[in-house]
Amino acid sequence: MILTILTLFPSTIEGYLRESILRIAQEKGLVRFRLVNFRDYSTDRHRTVDDRPFGGGPGMVLKPEPVFAAVEDAEAKDGPYRKVLLTPAGRRFDQALAREFSREERLLLLCGRYEGFDERIRLGLRWDEVSVGDYVLSGGEIAALAVAEATARLLPGALGDPESAEQESFTAGLLDFPQYTRPRVFRGMAVPEVLVSGDHEAVRRWREEAARRRTAERRPDLRPESDPKAGTGG
Ligand SMILES: C[S@@+](CC[C@H](N)C(=O)[O-])C[C@H]1O[C@@H](n2cnc3c(N)ncnc32)[C@H](O)[C@@H]1O
Repeated sequence: MILTILTLFPSTIEGYLRESILRIAQEKGLVRFRLVNFRDYSTDRHRTVDDRPFGGGPGMVLKPEPVFAAVEDAEAKDGPYRKVLLTPAGRRFDQALAREFSREERLLLLCGRYEGFDERIRLGLRWDEVSVGDYVLSGGEIAALAVAEATARLLPGALGDPESAEQESFTAGLLDFPQYTRPRVFRGMAVPEVLVSGDHEAVRRWREEAARRRTAERRPDLRPESDPKAGTGG
């Protein structure tokens, strides 16, 4: 997958891409990240990317020309992209959308800043408009990283153990079950006996039940699948 991020602040993203799962996914050749500063596509002397809003009001609005030029250049070089515009007005990002994005050959994320985008950016190019939640960030970079990481870790081979992605929260419409490691007793809190029983079927049942209970208590809006893989493999 080629994952291109259009941003005015590439240095805020660079360091994160060099660590952990995202670094490993790149080293394995599963994903190539490209950071594009769309300021490089402005054509005036001052490298302007924003301007005051028509009709008045506070702040600055991102101009269409540099964004169109950056997107068109990326598509001319790489081929058509699935294009994601990060905006609080978008569809809420979730695991299902991350999985959908992970099947794309090319994904482009556009990070806004200031008061957001000139409406013609939205109208003139075909976007998935995506929000990471009902709050307002100062820019799309953190949202882009959330989308990039949730997507890239689902690429086959990205996670050391493929079962990790199968078991974790939201995959089967369930939250994850509680996890324990050593020591067996910590400050009077003991690991549930079943987890140290060596009975794999009992562990699987306990985890499935715990995941269902937790989901019903905390996220009754989620729709669990009838046969989740909770707990297989121990
Ligand atoms: C300060 S925000 C603009 C907010 C805009 N005036 C509004 O009220 O919807 C600047 C940029 O941050 C990004 N952003 C902020 N919150 C976001 C969210 N919840 N999800 C995705 N992107 C977000 C978007 O790219 C947005 O264009």
